[in-house]
Amino acid sequence: MAVPLDAVRAIHNAFRKDLAAMDAAANAAVRQGGSLDPLLNRYKLFNEVLVWHASGEEDAVFPAVEKAAPLVAEAYQRDHRGLDILYLELNLAVNEMDKLDIARAAARFNFHLHFHLDKEEAHLYRIFNERIPVPEQAVIIGKMSQKIPQERFPEVVSWLFPLIGINDRENMVRIWQQVLPPPVFTKVTGLIKKATGDGWTELTLRIPELT
Ligand SMILES: [Fe+2]
Repeated sequence: MAVPLDAVRAIHNAFRKDLAAMDAAANAAVRQGGSLDPLLNRYKLFNEVLVWHASGEEDAVFPAVEKAAPLVAEAYQRDHRGLDILYLELNLAVNEMDKLDIARAAARFNFHLHFHLDKEEAHLYRIFNERIPVPEQAVIIGKMSQKIPQERFPEVVSWLFPLIGINDRENMVRIWQQVLPPPVFTKVTGLIKKATGDGWTELTLRIPELT
């Protein structure tokens, strides 16, 4: 059964995959003259989703963790400010179109993000999962998803689903099925169908009520 935390893991996995690919593209651009487009076309949307996610954590997850385990969340909040700085550095390098600086900024961003997400999952979210009752977790994760402006939801769905594997896809659908009002869920289902393309059939085999 999908638990609310699975939604966070799925988003984390999408962040990992997207930024690793952008880092690889930036590295290839500097070393072999590859195209920077895989980074240039994605890094702004990537960071918008990252900021919505981080502010959802700061407003909903961290206060709950603070109650369950004082003095844990602050270090993760500081990590977020580090991510903010890394994005600004990457953006500056892009504005100046300095390929070496872009590659260096992407590498730093990628390294810090991976470390941050791994730590959150091994520590902060483990506390969240073990010390906060599941119904309360669901409310918290629901609040997090409200950080996405409604009109941007379709973009987030079409960003997220191609980046994640079948298990994460199934979990996301099952969680949205629980937390979204039915008419909204129906709309989201249409977006997921579009975003998963050939993967849609596999998803409907896991969740037959999608069809
Ligand atoms: Fe975080």
